[in-house]
Amino acid sequence: MSDSVRIVEVGPRDGLQNEKAIIAAADKIALVDRLSATGLRSIEATSFVSPKWVPQLADAAEVYAGIARRPGVHYPVLVPNATGYERARAVGVEEIAVFTAASEAFNQRNVNASIDASLERFAPVLECARADGVRVRGYVSTVLGCPYQGVVPVADVVRVARALHAMGCYEVSLGDTIGIGTPRAAREMLRAVAAEVPMAALAVHFHDTRGQALANILACLEDGVRVVDAAVAGTGGCPYACGASGNVASEDVVYMLEGLGMDTGVDLDALIDTGRWLSALLGRENASSVGRAGRGT
Ligand code: HMG
Ligand code: MG
Repeated sequence: MSDSVRIVEVGPRDGLQNEKAIIAAADKIALVDRLSATGLRSIEATSFVSPKWVPQLADAAEVYAGIARRPGVHYPVLVPNATGYERARAVGVEEIAVFTAASEAFNQRNVNASIDASLERFAPVLECARADGVRVRGYVSTVLGCPYQGVVPVADVVRVARALHAMGCYEVSLGDTIGIGTPRAAREMLRAVAAEVPMAALAVHFHDTRGQALANILACLEDGVRVVDAAVAGTGGCPYACGASGNVASEDVVYMLEGLGMDTGVDLDALIDTGRWLSALLGRENASSVGRAGRGT
């Protein structure tokens, strides 16, 4: 495997949305700016969801307006509905991410709507985005299991991923929200989705809750996926998925990819520094193994 992989850094959003410590907007801005300097090409900057539902990111407008946007770097933000889209556009957002789930029970708790109702909500948002020249990414959560429903049939993942892609999402990220999957299940799920949505339009999004994230990513890389979501210092989780601790750490993913001879364009040393800085700021142990141990050479 000798080609390039795009890391979608989700720490400022998926990471910080579930951290106990709420950090100041200025620190969130500094985080995004530090990440921008590492060579990352996609950084999910914040989230324009309801501040009542996710108070950690209530300062989304201030954060987005404060970051120093670099040419060539995309800064998607999470948007749940038309209200979120309007708030995002008011501060000049050029890429959004919409999100739903493969599990009805999870989606209901996460966005207070059924899967189909959430897809219907996105239709006008995607229409506006198309007219405004705004890029749209899509997420499917709970692709390998749900904390409320248990088993999630692969057919349900395929249906939702296909719907998001057909609506105009340039990329669909497949999320193991509660970090429950293992490599065989991950590969089978990816293959089933890739039979309906081009592999080039798919990303994988693993949480390391049960220590399976890197193994799952490797299995998916072997099947051809080339976009991987990750969060610096392994922060976060999802507030509406109990036990969804820890996104896979970006440092660990980049280290593994370097070892595989795959290019990410990311300066691992700068990423490690950023993860250490963020962990100190949050007052918690760095959840990246590479972040704790260092590069070693
Ligand atoms: P709702 O309560 O059903 O909303 O929430 P509503 O439409 O009935 O509106 C209620 C009030 O909220 C109204 O205000 C709206 O204006 C306001 P009021 O009249 O009461 O003063 N409102 C908003 N305010 C600001 N921004 C908005 C917005 N929308 C409505 N965008 C809603 C529905 C979708 C808004 C809510 O459920 C929500 O925000 N949920 C987000 C939950 C969330 O962020 N979860 C984590 C992200 S998903 C995730 O982490 C998984 C992922 O990482 C992938 C993976 O890991 O698998 C993506
Ligand atoms: Mg996530």
